[in-house]
Amino acid sequence: MGKKVTVVGAGFYGSTTAQRLAEYDVFDTVVLTDIVEGKPEGLALDLNQSRPVEGFETKVVGATTGPNGEGYEAIEGSDVVIITAGLPRKPGMSRMDLLEVNAKIVRGVAENVAKYAPNAVVIVVSNPLDEMTALAQLATQFPKNRVLGQAGMLDTARFTNFVAETLAVPVSSVKTLTLGSHGDTMVPVPSRSTVNGKPLAELLPADKIEELVVRTRNGGAEVVALLKTGSAYYAPSAAAARMAKAVAEDSGAVMPVCAWVDGEYGISGVYLGVEAELGAEGVRRIVETDLTGSEVAALKEAAEAVRAKQADVAHL
Ligand SMILES: NC(=O)c1ccc[n+]([C@@H]2O[C@H](COP(=O)([O-])OP(=O)(O)OC[C@H]3O[C@@H](n4cnc5c(N)ncnc54)[C@H](O)[C@@H]3O)[C@@H](O)[C@H]2O)c1
Repeated sequence: MGKKVTVVGAGFYGSTTAQRLAEYDVFDTVVLTDIVEGKPEGLALDLNQSRPVEGFETKVVGATTGPNGEGYEAIEGSDVVIITAGLPRKPGMSRMDLLEVNAKIVRGVAENVAKYAPNAVVIVVSNPLDEMTALAQLATQFPKNRVLGQAGMLDTARFTNFVAETLAVPVSSVKTLTLGSHGDTMVPVPSRSTVNGKPLAELLPADKIEELVVRTRNGGAEVVALLKTGSAYYAPSAAAARMAKAVAEDSGAVMPVCAWVDGEYGISGVYLGVEAELGAEGVRRIVETDLTGSEVAALKEAAEAVRAKQADVAHL
C-alpha cells in the first residue's frame, strides 16, 4: 500500500510542506486541510496541475474541515499527520505570545487526528513548538514516540547556512547541531559543528561563533521582522517534509527534533529538542551525543524552562 500523509493547515507553512511532499513523489496521497472553505481544495487542484511539468504522480487532495470534525474523513488512513494549523508571529511577538490561541486550535485538531487517523505519527510545527507538541500528545493520547515536533532541523539548517555564508564554503561541507527549545533557550552546539570535518572553533574566533549562535537563536524573528505579515516557511517546510519522509520510508535517519526525553542527558519527562532516530513508529530512540559541560547545562536549563510551560498546556 502506498503511503498517505496529511498536512493540517493550508497556510504558508502547510501549503509549501504539501508541495515538497508531493514533489518527492514517494507518497500515494498528500492530503491538505484547512478551515477556510475552498482554500485546501484550490491549492490541491493547483498542485495537481503542476504534476505533468514537475513529473510526479502523488495525488494531492484538499479538504475543508469544520469545528466538529466535518471533513476529517479525508485524513483516514494517514501514516503521518503534520499539524501546521495556528497563527504565526507578527513583528515584535515572541512564540509564547501565540500560546493560548494556538493551544485551542492544536487541541481541536489533535482530537480529530486521534479519531480519524489513530495510527498516524504526528509531527507538530505550530508555535510555541515545544508546548504545542506536548499538547498534541495529551490531546491524542498517542504513545509519546508517535508525537514529535519540528524545530531542530530548521534551527540547525539556519546555523549551517550562516556558517557556510560566513566562511564562503558550500553548505554541504558544513555540519552543525542545534538542541534545546525552539525559543530563548535554544542550544546551538558549536562543539559538534564542523566544516569539511574540521572543528568550527579552528576556523572562526569564539566571538564570531557566538555571533552566529545568537543569529541562529533569533533566526525566526529576523525573517518575521522582514516579512512583517507572517513567519518563515521555505526552510521550515523543508524541515518538516524531510521528517515526514523519514517516517514514511522507515529510514532510521537521525535528525534533531522535539522528542519526549526520558533519562537522556539526565533529563526526564519533557518534550525537548534532541537528536533522534526516526522510523515508521516515529521516534525509534533518542541519540545522545557528546556535549561539553556548558552545553549539557544549557540543555538542562532549556528542559526546565519548557517543562513548566508544558505542564500549563494541560489546562488550555
Ligand atoms: N516549528 C517551526 O519551526 C515553525 C516555523 C515557522 C512557523 N511555525 C508556525 O507554524 C504555524 C503556521 O504558520 P503559517 O506561516 O503557515 O501561518 P498561516 O497563517 O499562513 O497559516 C495558518 C493556517 O492555519 C489555518 N487554520 C487555523 N485553524 C485551523 C484549524 N482548526 N484546522 C485547520 N487549519 C486551521 C488557517 O486558516 C491558516 O490557513 C504558526 O503557528 C507558526 O508560528 C513554526
